[in-house]
Amino acid sequence: MKTDLPVPGADEIAHSEALAALIRNEIAAHGPMPFSRYMELCLYAPGLGYYSAGKTKFGASGDFVTAPELGDLFARAIVGTLAPTLRELGDRADLLELGGGSGRFAAAALRELATTDALPHRYLVLEPSADLRERQRAHVETALTPDLAARVAWLDRPPQDAWHGVVFANEVLDALPTTRFTLKDGEVFEECVTVRDGAFAREDRPADTLVGGAVRHVERYLDAPFADGYRSEILPQLPYWMPAVIGSLERGVALFVDYGYPRSEFYLPERSDGTLVCHYRHRGHGDPFHRPGLQDITAFVDFTAVAEAGTNAGFELVGYAPQGQFLLSSGLPALIEEGAVLGEAERMRIVNEAKRLTLPGEMGERFQAIAFARGVSEVPAGLRAFDLSRRL
Ligand SMILES: C[S@@+](CC[C@H](N)C(=O)[O-])C[C@H]1O[C@@H](n2cnc3c(N)ncnc32)[C@H](O)[C@@H]1O
Repeated sequence: MKTDLPVPGADEIAHSEALAALIRNEIAAHGPMPFSRYMELCLYAPGLGYYSAGKTKFGASGDFVTAPELGDLFARAIVGTLAPTLRELGDRADLLELGGGSGRFAAAALRELATTDALPHRYLVLEPSADLRERQRAHVETALTPDLAARVAWLDRPPQDAWHGVVFANEVLDALPTTRFTLKDGEVFEECVTVRDGAFAREDRPADTLVGGAVRHVERYLDAPFADGYRSEILPQLPYWMPAVIGSLERGVALFVDYGYPRSEFYLPERSDGTLVCHYRHRGHGDPFHRPGLQDITAFVDFTAVAEAGTNAGFELVGYAPQGQFLLSSGLPALIEEGAVLGEAERMRIVNEAKRLTLPGEMGERFQAIAFARGVSEVPAGLRAFDLSRRL
């Protein structure tokens, strides 16, 4: 347990202990669990996981701040770049947001799309957390006029029938339960979680074919074997997750924004303990066993793996660019200009928000955007302008 982090209240400690007991019981019944299963339970166990339970997660009073929580600029610029695709597809085109967070992105996006005459037929949200769905619903109902709020609908699973439109996901890929692996004597091992002396502890077990195969695929791509003792993350489920989520999009664009690297940087030899980060009350640290259920657990994204999964799902890769350059070439400067007429305080707030989104030391370079398209000619222009997909 990390001792330099804020101490939660008694209720929160009881909540975390209930989740820890559930995880311990599963380990007692089935043996050490893959780290990905541990992360899945920590984040999504019904009623107890970090995203499934009622704690405030996003924003100043939560544990971390995402781009839509800074203000409306991010959502306005993102839907500005997706609007030409929606217009091309006509009035039956839908917008599907994956992982709707607090609902702030949806509200700002719909307001912007209404003023630019590019409203989607429906604004669909695929959100696994029942608690977040309720928060999203409450937010869109208070922040939007009834006619706009009525366009929003929540899905229990990705669309099954062929559809036209756009998909957007901010910070969803980093929240997918990640597998951790290591190498011993040249063999691939999967990091599992066990209980030792009453506490959660790491235990490496020989990897199964899926995990071993995924690691060997990366080694072949990098043209070098991982050194013994090297430890990192991988998403062996991504080649299946991507077509499950965007496969039925017959015509349209799918845009993902997240923190990560191209594969050659993700698996740098010096990054020998991976990219896992936990967030608890705005402090980032590396201990996933700290207060399960009360902290976020994430891993950076291997964007080469995302590109492979998207193109293997039958899409064309539109482009890949750092968030800062992407937003600056996707209408953000015009939105900042608009703020100039709103008075000094609001103008300063907007400039500060734009800086957080775009400066290299803030979100501008750590976050990247990648988009895929199928059957449309209108694609996010800012990704073409600054395309770095040759680095993938
Ligand atoms: C870090 S939050 C980001 C929320 C929001 N997009 C934002 O930027 O503020 C991750 C979100 O992804 C959701 N999520 C996790 N796994 C998902 C999945 N398989 N499909 C859709 N959403 C998912 C979580 O419940 C949560 O809403």
